[in-house]
Amino acid sequence: MHTATTPVATPTTYPPSQKTVRNAHVSGRAAYDRLVAEAEADHEAYWARLAREFITWKKPFTKVLDDSNAPFYKWFEDGTLNASYNCLDRNIERGLGQKTAIVFEADDGAVTQVTYADLLERVCRTANALRLIGVKKGDRVVIYMSMSIDGVVAMQACARIGAIHSVVFGGFSSQALRDRIADTGAVVVLTADQQVRGGKHLPLKAVVDEALALGGCESVRHVLVTKRTGAEVPFEAPRDQWMADLLAVQPTTCEPEWVSAEHPLFLLYTSGSTGKPKGVQHSTGGYLLHAALTCYWTFDLKPEDVFWCTADIGWVTGHTYITYGPLALGATEVVFEGIPTYPDAGRFWRMIQDHLVTVFYTAPTAIRSLIKAAESTPAAHPRNYDLSSLRILGTVGEPINPAAWQWYHDHIGGGRCPIVDTFWQTETGGHMITPLPGVHDLVPGSCSLPFPGISADVVDEAGNPVPWGQGGILVVKKPWPAMIRTIWGDPERFKSSYYPQDFQGRYYLAGDGAIRDAETGNFTITGRIDDVLNVSGHRMGTMEIESALVSCTELVAEAAVVGRHDDTTGEAICAFVVLKGALPVGDQATAIASELRTWVAREIGPIAKPKDIRFAENLPKTRSGKIMRRLLRSVAKGETSTQDTSTLENPAILEQLGQVY
Ligand code: WTA
Repeated sequence: MHTATTPVATPTTYPPSQKTVRNAHVSGRAAYDRLVAEAEADHEAYWARLAREFITWKKPFTKVLDDSNAPFYKWFEDGTLNASYNCLDRNIERGLGQKTAIVFEADDGAVTQVTYADLLERVCRTANALRLIGVKKGDRVVIYMSMSIDGVVAMQACARIGAIHSVVFGGFSSQALRDRIADTGAVVVLTADQQVRGGKHLPLKAVVDEALALGGCESVRHVLVTKRTGAEVPFEAPRDQWMADLLAVQPTTCEPEWVSAEHPLFLLYTSGSTGKPKGVQHSTGGYLLHAALTCYWTFDLKPEDVFWCTADIGWVTGHTYITYGPLALGATEVVFEGIPTYPDAGRFWRMIQDHLVTVFYTAPTAIRSLIKAAESTPAAHPRNYDLSSLRILGTVGEPINPAAWQWYHDHIGGGRCPIVDTFWQTETGGHMITPLPGVHDLVPGSCSLPFPGISADVVDEAGNPVPWGQGGILVVKKPWPAMIRTIWGDPERFKSSYYPQDFQGRYYLAGDGAIRDAETGNFTITGRIDDVLNVSGHRMGTMEIESALVSCTELVAEAAVVGRHDDTTGEAICAFVVLKGALPVGDQATAIASELRTWVAREIGPIAKPKDIRFAENLPKTRSGKIMRRLLRSVAKGETSTQDTSTLENPAILEQLGQVY
């Protein structure tokens, strides 16, 4: 994969260049060590200093951390602020009104640019429209839109009036959308007529209609529809209204709602180890601080940078590194509507060239699929593009394998750009363990060391630290400002998921395993330790997919889902299914497998479709009736022969499970 001109051994560490160190906001290892020491010496004073530097407060906070009701920590609670003010007005007051905030490239290549002044005006008009239809501080607004300036505007407009947004990824099905609308009790849904991806027009408004028709969404009073393609969509007045009609009559200014730092900025649903996704609740002040600070230190954003995060606003990365972080720093960023392979797999590289992108942030899955494409289609190879504007590269969402890291480094970064492999989660709000470009010696596959102020460590099951060089459970030992506040409507689940009694509620449990390098202490994430899969950087609960399968009551009697390694998507979903009817074979089995995939796509979304489906008359169980998941994982990998099956109640079914559909 990696083609070197001379057969030299690949170095295993990449120290930053002197120039990178000199120019970086955190310049050199000593500067990093000083920040870490400052945080260790006085955790609260450290975060308070940064909160004063990076956030403009309407009313300054007087208390930093309230841990009296741990683990429901509160940060900067008596301080008031507005996230949209911090991202927009504040930059305009600093003279950046005419600076480009967003360079938007549509699926078909059309480019639109908005300045900070334009963006503020659009946000204010949208915020006024929301107020006009009765949206109040604390109300939930579900946003089901695709990648667009309007999507960012919708989120910022909610923040402006203190409404709590909950963005639902445009690839989720009507059922998944319904569940999220119902759980939030949203009063308004913001959507578009359609979305455009890879040359295809896909429905949005029609899916909202379906979701609302499923019932349980009686809280929704209005659906506001933005026109994207102009397609004819069903319209149910007065519930449905065209956004453009509302906006036309709105004033272009809007007084922000000043909220407590603890006021929820958004809810974002993510998968856990049960069948029900959890609504992760983030705060305004602590979250915004971390979003801005990580953009400043990890991405080292400078006024002249052009930042591009390829994530979708439906995921947390799109929240922190599109809607909030870069704008809070007054940066210029690229927002892209389409997909990396349309019209060809050179799209990302062409866009970097065209928009002179300097800092580029994407997912390992995208890199791996573009490596494949570059190998098979010479025209899509990055060598055809001028990528010399790049200075920093980043990855997120899943472990990056060293071969993909190396290719990214050599072919995209031209061997000169540091790669920040950022480990974090929906729950953490922003980067937790990551190299800083002007600090760390990079080791492909390792996310280096904790962001200053984050006390990550690796412990054993009793919560005791394990020596470096030994694997264990990743925990965070002290609260941090951007941490999850609770699970919406389910504080008990928040406590038991993240602050389990196994550690006497002392540590935040990330749900990942990790190992620290014996000499450097560098972290490598070894993957989830719960029943959560990571497919193309998207979190999927195995139980969620199992529930979707068994809800196909006509066909399915029982189902179990496990993950297996996949070279491109990281992990792939493997479903083991017992049908109500006879064991299917041949074409019939293929047809049922395809029917089940369609079913899962309808229940959750296409991202949850099982890649492998295996049928059997029964699932492998112990004599006490427990499904042998470890055995299923081996079967999924194709290694049944090495397993001890002596405790298996019905060994004959192993043969049936051998066939993949
Ligand atoms: C995984 C995405 C290794 C991890 C921001 C985590 C990673 C889950 C990395 C969170 C990384 C994320 N290296 N693994 N750099 N980044 N992960 O909530 O398993 O969608 O728990 O947040 O992705 O996924 P989520």
